[in-house]
Amino acid sequence: MWGLGHGICDVSVFQGLADELALIDADADKLKGETLDLLHGSLFFNTPKIVSGKDYSVSANSKLVIITAGARQKVGESRLDLVQRNVVIMKSIVPGIVQNSPDCKILIVSNPVDILTYVVWKISGLPATRIIGSGCNLDSARFRYLIGEKLGVHPVSCHGYVLGEHGDSSVPVWSGVNVAGVPLKSLNPALGTDADQEQWKKIHNQVVESGYEVLRLKGYTSWAIGLSVTDLTGSILKNLRKVHPVSTLAKGLYGIKEEIFLSVPCILGRNGITDIVKVNLNPEEESLLRKSAETLWNVQKDLEL
Ligand SMILES: NC(=O)c1ccc[n+]([C@@H]2O[C@H](COP(=O)([O-])OP(=O)(O)OC[C@H]3O[C@@H](n4cnc5c(N)ncnc54)[C@H](O)[C@@H]3O)[C@@H](O)[C@H]2O)c1
Repeated sequence: MWGLGHGICDVSVFQGLADELALIDADADKLKGETLDLLHGSLFFNTPKIVSGKDYSVSANSKLVIITAGARQKVGESRLDLVQRNVVIMKSIVPGIVQNSPDCKILIVSNPVDILTYVVWKISGLPATRIIGSGCNLDSARFRYLIGEKLGVHPVSCHGYVLGEHGDSSVPVWSGVNVAGVPLKSLNPALGTDADQEQWKKIHNQVVESGYEVLRLKGYTSWAIGLSVTDLTGSILKNLRKVHPVSTLAKGLYGIKEEIFLSVPCILGRNGITDIVKVNLNPEEESLLRKSAETLWNVQKDLEL
C-alpha cells in the first residue's frame, strides 16, 4: 500500500496493519525525508518492510493503495474548487497503480474526495466495490466527538452518521443519533431543527467548518484524517466487515439517478465494499441527501476525463 501527505497514511504503520508499506510521491526529497524519518522509528512498530520511490513498481502487488496525493486546499478554497487540479494528478497516477497492482482496493483521500473517487473508478476500470472514498468516515467521527462533548459521554458510545458529500452539503442523520439505543430525538423531538432550543444543529455546522478551521490554524489536517484512514485500513486488511460511512457508487440509492459517489454506511472487508446498509432516512434527510448528490453532479458533469 502507499500514499503520502502529512502523516495521513503513516499513522496506520503504528498499528502494524501492514507487513509492507510502499511510499510514492512526486517530490523526491520529501519522499526520502519521510521514509528516513519513518525508518528511524522502526524499533517502535511492526511493519518490517518500508520502501519508497517515484516509480509505481515499488508498490507492485499491493492489497490496498491509499491515494493522498494531490494539491492541498488553500485557505478560503472549498474542496470542490480543488477538483480540476486534482483530476489531472489522478490521471497521471492511476494507470501506474492498476498496472502494478491489478487486484488492489483503492482508498481515495485526496479532495474533493467524492468526485475524485468517481474519477479513479472511471480511469482505473476496476469494479466500484474496490474503489472506496474516505468520504464521511471523518465527518461522522467529528460528529460523534462533538455529540459526546455536549453529553459528557465518550464518542464511541454516541452513535450517529453524517452521510452524503464529504464537505459543505453533508447530511447529519439526526433521526438515527442514539446513546445505548435511546434515540436523542425521542427525548428532544426538535433535535437538529431550527426550532430546537438546545441548538444541536450547530454541531453539524461545526462538523462542516472543522476541516477549514484546522486548515486555517495549522495549514493542513493530519491527525484525525490519519486515524480515520487507519480505521478504514484495519477493516479492509483484517477483513473486519465493520460498517463505515464511506464514499461509494450511489446510483439507484434514495432516488439518485446519476453516477456519483457519496457516503452511505458500507460494510468493508478484504473484498472492499461488499454491502451497503440502507438506512431509514426521514423525508427531510432523504431530500438533503439528494441535494448533496446534485451538488456533486453539478461539478462532476463538466469534468473532462
Ligand atoms: N478526505 C479527507 O477527509 C481529507 C483530509 C485531509 C486532507 N485531504 C486531502 O488529501 C490531499 C493531501 O493533503 P495533504 O495535507 O497531505 O497535502 P500535502 O501537500 O502535504 O501532500 C500531498 C502530496 O502529494 C504529492 N503529489 C502531488 N502531485 C503528485 C503526483 N502527481 N504524484 C505523486 N505525488 C504527488 C505532493 O508532492 C505532496 O507530497 C489533499 O487533496 C487534501 O485536501 C483529505
